[in-house]
Formats: sequence, C-alpha cells, structure tokens
Amino acid sequence: MTRVFSAMQPTSDSLHLGNYLGALVEWVKLQDTHDAIYSVVDLHALTQAPEPELLRSRTRRTAAQYLAAGVDPERSLCFVQSHVPQHAELSWILSTFTGMGEASRMTQFKDKAQKTGESGANVGLFTYPILMAADILLYDTDVVPVGEDQRQHLELSRDLAQRINGRFGEGTVMVPEAHIVKETAKIYDLQDPVKKMSKSTGNPKGIIEMLDDPKKVAKNIKSAVTDLDSVIRFDREAKPGVSNLLTIYSALTGRDVDGLVAEYEGRMYGHLKVDLADVVVAYLTPFHDAAMEWIESPERLDGVLAQGAAKASTIAQATLDRIYDRLGL
Ligand code: ADP
Ligand code: NA
Repeated sequence: MTRVFSAMQPTSDSLHLGNYLGALVEWVKLQDTHDAIYSVVDLHALTQAPEPELLRSRTRRTAAQYLAAGVDPERSLCFVQSHVPQHAELSWILSTFTGMGEASRMTQFKDKAQKTGESGANVGLFTYPILMAADILLYDTDVVPVGEDQRQHLELSRDLAQRINGRFGEGTVMVPEAHIVKETAKIYDLQDPVKKMSKSTGNPKGIIEMLDDPKKVAKNIKSAVTDLDSVIRFDREAKPGVSNLLTIYSALTGRDVDGLVAEYEGRMYGHLKVDLADVVVAYLTPFHDAAMEWIESPERLDGVLAQGAAKASTIAQATLDRIYDRLGL
C-alpha cells in the first residue's frame, strides 16, 4: 500500500480550525487508502525553546487531537518523534549531503528568524528542513500531504533522496511525492482574511481553536471581518471574509457553497455569522469531549503512543540499516 507520512509540531495547547480542515481531515481520509504514519514532531518544537512542562503537555495534547479527529491507531501509526531516535540519526546523515547554499535558500528560515535576526536564531531552526527530510525518508514514504508553504522543504527531501541514490544506488532511499492540499481546505484569519489562519502569526481573535471555550469561538466568528456591501456570495478576491465563512460552513456541514449562497440570498452577514457560530460550536463539542477523554486518560494515551513508537522504530531501523550499509557505516 502507498505510504503517507505527515506531522505537526506541538507548539500550542489546541490546534486551530485551519490545522483541522487543512490537515487532520485529510489525514483521517487517507487512512482508508494508504498506509498512514502520523507523528507529533517534538524535536522540531525545540527550535522555539519551549518550557519543558509545556512541551510535554502540548505533545500529549496534540496527539490527543489527532486521535479525537479520527486517526485510528489500529490502522495507522501515531507516535512522538523523540520516542524514535532514528529521526535524529538520519538527520545527521542527511546534513552531510546538504549544501550550505541549499539550506540557506529555505525561505521559511528567513521568515521564522525574523524575530531574532538570522545570527540570533538557533542552528536547529536553520537545519529544520533536514530533520523534516529525515522524518519523511525514514519511512520510505511515497506521499507527503503538505500545505503550499512546505513545498520547498519537500523539494529538499526529494533532492536529498535523489542525490543519495545517485551516489549509492537506486533504492538507498525512496523519493517521496508531494500531495499539495487543495486550496479549498485553506482557512483564513477571521480578522485578516487574506492571511491564513495561523497560531504562529495570527491574531488571537482571528483563529478558531479546536479546544477553545464555545463562547469565545462564537464571539470570534460573530466579530469576523467581512466587507461593506452586505451581499453573501463566494468571491475569494473581492470578498475574502465572507468567502472564508462560507468555506468553513461548507466544510463542517458537507453542504456545497452554492447551496449556502442560495439559502442566504437577501439575508445579512449577521445571520450567516450567527448560524455559522452554532454550526462550529456543535461541531467542536464532540471533538473537544473526545480529545479531553484522551488527555484525561494519560495511561491509555501513553500506551497508544508507545505502541506507535515501537512499530515506527522497527520500520525506521530497517531503513537506517540499509542506508548505513550502503554508506559504509
Ligand atoms: P501554523 O501556521 O498555525 O503554525 P503549522 O504550520 O504548524 O500551522 O501547520 C500544521 C498543519 O496544518 C500543516 O499541514 C499546514 O499545512 C496546516 N495548516 C496550517 N494552517 C492552515 C490553514 N490556515 N488552512 C489550512 N491548513 C492549514
Ligand atoms: Na507554519
């Protein structure tokens, strides 16, 4: 079966609706057709110098949200990156195949290093795409579902794989393909609907947190920025705010956007927002309950993650043995 790998960093207590609709929903679907491996990449989060207790709790909460969304540990692997030491091992090997200039061209580093300036940023932030390549290549991954912003990192993984195969023979590592998640799954900031909803760069009132208090979620939706002409229609360019609300409505109810537009013809933005707030809150309630059940059963959660790490480690070690052998280690 075609293998898919994807991951998120444990950098917040709650995922947001963009993470959910843009990634998790897709992950859950892919389980039906793919051999799926999903990781909480805590080693990546270290580049942001988190407090230890916060990192630990966010790692577990992130895993709990994968499971609440429907990642099924009976069918897929769900594990924490640092529990599988082969990630760090392969990352070192790959770093010896990465050119300085090549690594310097990664635009996310420039974006992320803006706060501290490039010379103040840590080397881990600089080499992060190499660790990401290790995450992918360790599992002989065929497909990686990523957003547009990660395309360049995936290209690096492919380049490294091809370079290594060129020198040590085809099949030393598998060359992954990108599966760019479609634009329709992209969710924008409620306050600034031309920017994607993001925990790292977003306005707190512009995001919908999956585990947030329903009152706050409803408030954020009701105060979403729209526009002045008060016609409810889908037009990403001219009406980004309204279009974003319609996208969310459609994604959570399964109804098509045209049907929604017809239903709201002649009505006001306020009606759409009030109804959407109800839809979102109703949708989030069972998600919240399922995630809290995992978070409040640490032994059960740790059991699932330990089992995932054991299986992941077996696959990863086989890949690493093959690479070590070809490289003369
Ligand atoms: P953030 O930008 O909030 O830090 P990440 O970069 O950690 O989010 O993204 C984790 C996953 O969620 C990735 O697969 C990414 O493509 C997806 N994702 C993040 N924000 C959005 C969004 N606004 N719309 C759709 N998908 C998103
Ligand atoms: Na990001």
